Amino acid sequence: MRIIVAKDYKDMSRKAANIISAQIITKPNCVLGLATGSSPIGTYDQLVEWYEKGDLDFSQVSSVNLDEYRGLDHSHDQSYYYFMHEHLFDRVNIDPAHTNVPDGTEADAEKECKRYEELIASYGGVDLQLLGLGHNGHIGFNEPASAFDKVTHCVDLTESTIEANKRFFASADDVPKQAYTMGIGTIMKAKKILIVVSGEDKADIVAKAFYGDVTPEVPASILQFHPDVTVVVDEAAASKLPK
Ligand code: GLP
Repeated sequence: MRIIVAKDYKDMSRKAANIISAQIITKPNCVLGLATGSSPIGTYDQLVEWYEKGDLDFSQVSSVNLDEYRGLDHSHDQSYYYFMHEHLFDRVNIDPAHTNVPDGTEADAEKECKRYEELIASYGGVDLQLLGLGHNGHIGFNEPASAFDKVTHCVDLTESTIEANKRFFASADDVPKQAYTMGIGTIMKAKKILIVVSGEDKADIVAKAFYGDVTPEVPASILQFHPDVTVVVDEAAASKLPK
């Protein structure tokens, strides 16, 4: 695990975008695993800027997103489908037919999760998976649990996640209570993993996840066992790491 400490959010975003750019340049038809949340927005903005300058070409790239709220359709501005189009897909030359987000409108959870897992396998797996980190250590929507979930599945969101995400909805009651998410096993199969974390409010969980015990109670801690992980944190999020 490589831990890169960036100055601030902008610096973290540029460093992460550089790593993604290197992936696209070295393998133009790569499969990117993508994430939502506030953490990767700056990374996407930077990638768009380099695309606009002519330095990046997404025409052969495919993407699979980590997760989606169950029950939100594509036009809902809090769906992850909408987020991805707003922050990246509609701003670069990626082929929309090669972008994938779990389908939150599919009511049959088992069917959708199976379809998604098979879809990822049909691509030959993910070359580079981008992740954010939840305050409780979740990655994707893999919440703290007694065991690591292996494959794409439907989860009940924890109170703390609903609380953290309610700022994007009219009220906590409007936050969906479930989501479809890649499993920890799905994420761990990615060839490379890049995780971006910023802000003082994440300092405790960064120390716990990357220096603490590996436990399903802190889902991101499993990344300590992955052979190719790059963690890009800003100074604030790194403030509780051992010197
Ligand atoms: C959300 C997402 C995660 C994300 C995390 C942190 O609930 N499902 O994929 O990484 O929470 O979000 P943020 O980056 O906004 O702190």
